[in-house]
Amino acid sequence: MLKILVTGAAGFIGSQLSYRLFQMGEDVTLVDDFSYGSEDNLVFPEHDFRAEIVHASVTDEAAMDHLFSEKRFDVVYHFAGITPLPDCQNRPSDALRVNVGGTVLMLDLSRKYNVGRFLFASTSAVYENTLTFPSVEGEVVPPTLIYPSTKYAAEQFCRSYASCYGMNVVCFRFANVFGPHIDCLRTQPPVMGYIIREFHRGNSPVLHASGEQERDYIFVDDLLDLVIRAQKVDGFDILNVGTGKTVSVNEIASLIQKKMGCECIPVRHAEVSHFWANYPELYEGPRPIREEVLAHEVLKYTCLSTRHAEETLGWTPKTPLSEGIDRTIDFSLQVLRERDSSN
Ligand SMILES: NC(=O)c1ccc[n+]([C@@H]2O[C@H](COP(=O)([O-])OP(=O)(O)OC[C@H]3O[C@@H](n4cnc5c(N)ncnc54)[C@H](O)[C@@H]3O)[C@@H](O)[C@H]2O)c1
Repeated sequence: MLKILVTGAAGFIGSQLSYRLFQMGEDVTLVDDFSYGSEDNLVFPEHDFRAEIVHASVTDEAAMDHLFSEKRFDVVYHFAGITPLPDCQNRPSDALRVNVGGTVLMLDLSRKYNVGRFLFASTSAVYENTLTFPSVEGEVVPPTLIYPSTKYAAEQFCRSYASCYGMNVVCFRFANVFGPHIDCLRTQPPVMGYIIREFHRGNSPVLHASGEQERDYIFVDDLLDLVIRAQKVDGFDILNVGTGKTVSVNEIASLIQKKMGCECIPVRHAEVSHFWANYPELYEGPRPIREEVLAHEVLKYTCLSTRHAEETLGWTPKTPLSEGIDRTIDFSLQVLRERDSSN
């Protein structure tokens, strides 16, 4: 039985990873400060999920040192982070403190307490300025926005720790992840969570630009298969976690609409300038966010090469998009209905 730490364990991906590891019989410890995640994510109805949950920040040096010294982890999955892009843009110091500082602290404690494997959740958003498709791990043009900049910087620290101390460290560049437990309630949810929520409420989701912009979407179960296999990787590596296929926002909206049997039609917002309108601070003052930056974020294309993951770990994604969307809808509707009845 391995002793495994999962940070960000009350979030979308961390909760499912923790549960999968628990089902595999590992001794799992969960850390989350619940700034975004929720206890609800840790309820898996069919099974009794037993794991220690530590309510603490990954930036809390004393609490984290105590935890590492007590537990002597074999493996650390560092998945905690400030993930919504506009939140990072709006609170850059927090983004730096948590996404970079928190990662450095986790790396340093892993060095100090001789953790065997450090596995870090980075993002395909680091490819925002990269024009090679499908994008490969070795070719990145440094990103512009705060969120991918923090993840890109954290990757450099992962590389540095692996080189300086001979640690086994893997960075995952996740494409857009979807599946059960996707957040559909936060201020700016991921696109699928947002569309499902709006249809459920009888609203027309607002889609920016033409809706024809395409991205790579990975189903969470496929991602979990890869991140668990990655415990075998020795030394330092970066792995894309995507499908190499793309789908447009319009296609996603129409698949969701069909499955939910909704009459509402998505509204197209040709203007990209309203993209982060829920964050008025970004538009205020002498230096509002530039429209071309918003346009780039809305219109950007992502498509990840899966070759390296396939060659290294024999991994390929398996879940068809429509099946993944159906399972995402089923779970999200349960969450939304529970929320409705508790209000
Ligand atoms: N979901 C995606 O599409 C996607 C894509 C690329 C990368 N990622 C990365 O994968 C990881 C998991 O993403 P997710 O979708 O589950 O995000 P999420 O927001 O659902 O989960 C992140 C969790 O981290 C926790 N957290 C934030 N700050 C913390 C702190 N200081 N200390 C402890 N916990 C803290 C939050 O409360 C939350 O539960 C993140 O690092 C994210 O950047 C996600």
